[in-house]
Amino acid sequence: MKKAFKLKRGSIIVVTDNGWGDTGKGKIVDVLSSSADMAIRYNGGPNAGHTVKTDQGTFVFHGLPSGILHKSVLNILSTGVVVNPLSLAKEITTAQKQGVAITPKNFLIEKTAHMIMPWHTKRDSLVEKARGKISIGTTGQGIGPTYADRALRQGLRAGDLLLRNFEEVFLEELSWQEKLISVMDNNSKKHFDKKKLLSDLKKAQSILKPFVSNVLPIIHLYQKSGKTIIGEAGQGALLDLDLGGYPFVTSSNPGVAGFLKATGIHYKKITKVYGVTKAYTTRVGQGPMPTELSGKIGEYLQTKGNEVGATTGRKRRCGWFDAVAMKKGLQIVGADEIVLTKSDILDELSEIKICVAYDFGGKRYKELPDTDPLFMQKAKPIYETLAGWKANTSGVTSFADLPKNARNYILFIEKLLGVPISIISTGPKRDETIFR
Ligand code: IMP
Repeated sequence: MKKAFKLKRGSIIVVTDNGWGDTGKGKIVDVLSSSADMAIRYNGGPNAGHTVKTDQGTFVFHGLPSGILHKSVLNILSTGVVVNPLSLAKEITTAQKQGVAITPKNFLIEKTAHMIMPWHTKRDSLVEKARGKISIGTTGQGIGPTYADRALRQGLRAGDLLLRNFEEVFLEELSWQEKLISVMDNNSKKHFDKKKLLSDLKKAQSILKPFVSNVLPIIHLYQKSGKTIIGEAGQGALLDLDLGGYPFVTSSNPGVAGFLKATGIHYKKITKVYGVTKAYTTRVGQGPMPTELSGKIGEYLQTKGNEVGATTGRKRRCGWFDAVAMKKGLQIVGADEIVLTKSDILDELSEIKICVAYDFGGKRYKELPDTDPLFMQKAKPIYETLAGWKANTSGVTSFADLPKNARNYILFIEKLLGVPISIISTGPKRDETIFR
């Protein structure tokens, strides 16, 4: 029997994403967590949907960290994450009903994490609607408005759930947010049913309270005592607020910077950064995507890859592997190694294209100068065509067992990106993984 892959004891591993999200980080974090002591979700919120498939069933985590199925791992939602107390409380209860043990021994929420409240989701949808043609295509989860309030140093944080006068604090916040929304909506009617909201929130509060804690010192203790720690990103490098293709980005930092900000861990302590990359490219929401395919092959990737947003149910835009965009993403997240996912989705194609450069105004770009969406919008992909392998590779666990053309495809990507592909995921299940 093959020896199980184990992280080196005491290592600090960041699992992030080189692209526009949706690469299958959930599975990778779950797999790596089997040899970890702590798993930290460090950015974003329920805009993410991380799918983990085990013999126990299929789990889609929006708010919970993906290490949660491992009882001995302390799972953390750190500062830097935005927490929706109503949906998180439901997610916890549902997972518990599915047999997942979730107790303060294996799950904690840092008290300074900001909370997404119903006024944030309302503001998100009002802004998107008002912007019409120039909307961002957000997930509608209230992410931007919550991070905006955080930057304005206002809003509620998870620690507020522990306050004796939580109800008073909540009502004060609700009162001015109502006023703000009335102005935005040009409508002075009450937008929220105060009584219902308070009652729902109190129920969520009673579920979440035991998990809210002063987590940062615990992270430091784990780090100092040589425990193995995994950082789990939401979204991807090209959606990074600062370095992604603004304004078609999210409001947090999926790269290593996000991990450092959310944990206070010194950058020199990080052992390895995995950049998870899909074997073809997808994007959801607005913004340029040079390799997007609208015809038969796009539909094939969308259907076979089940490319539907786990949070929004939106169909993802699908296209050939965009090495130029991914190279930029790799640089943003500073990945040391690549985890290539979903290569098996390409199994039935007789030929596969890879975008190796962009043509912009007659000039060839192998690398992106920056992530400016105006540049990407006008850039035309230049492709190289590789032969497909026309064989079933799902579930393959050894690189040598992949067909020659599949190996060629992977090695071609590795060469283009200049970073080793050390893990290949050949299916959604834990053991459908190649460690090279
Ligand atoms: P927001 O994060 O909901 O504000 O959405 C901003 C942009 O990021 C939109 O284009 C979303 O489609 C995209 N986005 C947010 N979260 C995810 C994710 O988990 N996967 C892929 N795209 C995402």
